[in-house]
Amino acid sequence: MAFSEDFLQELASRNDIVDVVGSYVHLTKRSGSNLFGLCPFHSEKTPSFSVAPDKQIYHCFGCGKGGSVISFIMEIENLSFPDAVAFLARRAGMPMPEEEQDTASKKRARMLALNREAARFFHAALKEPSGQPAREYLARRQLTGKTVTNFGLGFAPDTWDSLTRAMKGLGYTEQELFDAGLVRHGKKGGVYDTFRNRLMFPVIDVRGNVIGFSGRILGDGEPKYMNSPETLVFSKSHNLFALNLAKKSKAGYILLAEGNVDVASLHQAGFDSAVASLGTSLTPEQARLLSRYTSEIVIAYDSDGAGQKASQRAIGLLEKLDLRVRVLRMEGAKDPDEYLKRFGADAFRNLLEASENHIDFRLASIRQKYDLAVDEQKVAFLREACDMVAALPDKIKREVYAMRLSETTGISVDAVKDQIAQIRKRKLRAAERQERRDQSRPVLQQQKRTGIRYDNPRSAAAEEGVVRLLCQEPELFQRIEPPDAEWFSSPELKHLYALLLDCMQRGAPVSLAAMSEQLSPEEMNLLTGVIQESDDSSQRSKALADYIQIIRDEAFRRTNEDLREAARLYKKRKAYGDKV
Ligand code: GTP
Ligand code: MN
Repeated sequence: MAFSEDFLQELASRNDIVDVVGSYVHLTKRSGSNLFGLCPFHSEKTPSFSVAPDKQIYHCFGCGKGGSVISFIMEIENLSFPDAVAFLARRAGMPMPEEEQDTASKKRARMLALNREAARFFHAALKEPSGQPAREYLARRQLTGKTVTNFGLGFAPDTWDSLTRAMKGLGYTEQELFDAGLVRHGKKGGVYDTFRNRLMFPVIDVRGNVIGFSGRILGDGEPKYMNSPETLVFSKSHNLFALNLAKKSKAGYILLAEGNVDVASLHQAGFDSAVASLGTSLTPEQARLLSRYTSEIVIAYDSDGAGQKASQRAIGLLEKLDLRVRVLRMEGAKDPDEYLKRFGADAFRNLLEASENHIDFRLASIRQKYDLAVDEQKVAFLREACDMVAALPDKIKREVYAMRLSETTGISVDAVKDQIAQIRKRKLRAAERQERRDQSRPVLQQQKRTGIRYDNPRSAAAEEGVVRLLCQEPELFQRIEPPDAEWFSSPELKHLYALLLDCMQRGAPVSLAAMSEQLSPEEMNLLTGVIQESDDSSQRSKALADYIQIIRDEAFRRTNEDLREAARLYKKRKAYGDKV
């Protein structure tokens, strides 16, 4: 373990989870000691994100994410474990244990330096004689020298080892190149360059670090793009291409496009606030990142079906962060790049000015599906449109769109409003029911949320009970013979139990923060899900005995089955043997 347990506990105790989480999530008291708020990790309308001050954990009943104050910072600030620790140490004014800080940040710094050297290498290769095909491709896409400089574009030569050789020459090892995703392991040992014969787009974060690369094939072919894999410094879902440039724009909004080439063309045409998600549909983390730099987003995704679907998804995420969202509707071109080439920058500017707010955009998409001259279709249109309007959190907006729908369909405003109110009531009730259901069926819900499946749910429920009690009342375990970890049916719960038991037996306090590094995110989610529940405190000793009984019985039953199976096989073999 990189940090000592003592240090991590001190860190956690100086960073109260309520204060830390409270600066990102508006928390309110409901019943009991837990605080609740809207989950920052998934989209929701009723709060199911809880913080338990006594246990110093958070847990979302909706998406299942949970953990200690350290995991919270890792997740929300997109930091590695050591960086999250450093973040919290700074917050609490604690000095970092020096050595650990050094190795962790040295590794990162070196990977960033390597990426920067690689970007330089690619950029220089573009100007060499062998960069001719890439230069021709740029010319074909009408990307200028200024754009090349602005984005630091480059060319990965059509060879297996030019980057490797150049970087080795600068003192980087194959292992370092591999860790940065710049080379891959060949079948016969050795390494080869990941990016070959591609136009290279360095991905640069808001601090100006080169964190990864996106390489486009020159012309047609598959795969069109290759991206750096996830590394110590690069996470696709947490970064946006060109945000480093867009954040300096004076436009007042950020233009969200799909492709790297679109972004380059947009900047070249003067729309310097364009960014693209890195080959994924917009993630909640990217949405949050955007919200730090702007209060308005204009979506300029491709005009095809996939692009429109992606727009709808992005709207949902952005809206939740209180961002103003408009959607660009391009006709006669498949994407912003093509639009600019066909119609020019002024036409695009007009498009921007005419871009609809997202509610209009969604209503228009629904409207397209129906023929309002046919009564039946009018009813169906109204039903779908009211459904969408009913989901708007803002009452005034619901009123405005009720009137609009009444005008469109010729149905009275009152009838439309009634319909919307009814749907809204139904939705709220359904959400409440769902929430209650989620909270009342812990084991099954756990499986659904964490993706961890239990082979033996009966035993797993009891194993969860043991883990919970071990966290809540470790003294109970000093009076009995603790159950053997080998009896556990779930590998995840077994791992959790073994770690916790070890803590207890060493006399160390059980601290989730101290265990943050040894647990996978899934295990962390599982653990917080398990311990946020509570056993009746007067019955805990009895409950523990029952849990242990069940676990032992089930383990015994499994062993017996195994033995019977072994015996059966043995007999079968013997029968053969006798015959032969
Ligand atoms: P062109 O306009 O065709 O030159 O490309 P573009 O840069 O506009 O990209 P496009 O709209 O086709 O795709 C949008 C984004 O999806 C790209 O910028 C990439 O990040 C990603 N993408 C596209 N094709 C691939 C692929 O084959 N593999 C991966 N990993 N990502 C891709
Ligand atoms: Mn494109």
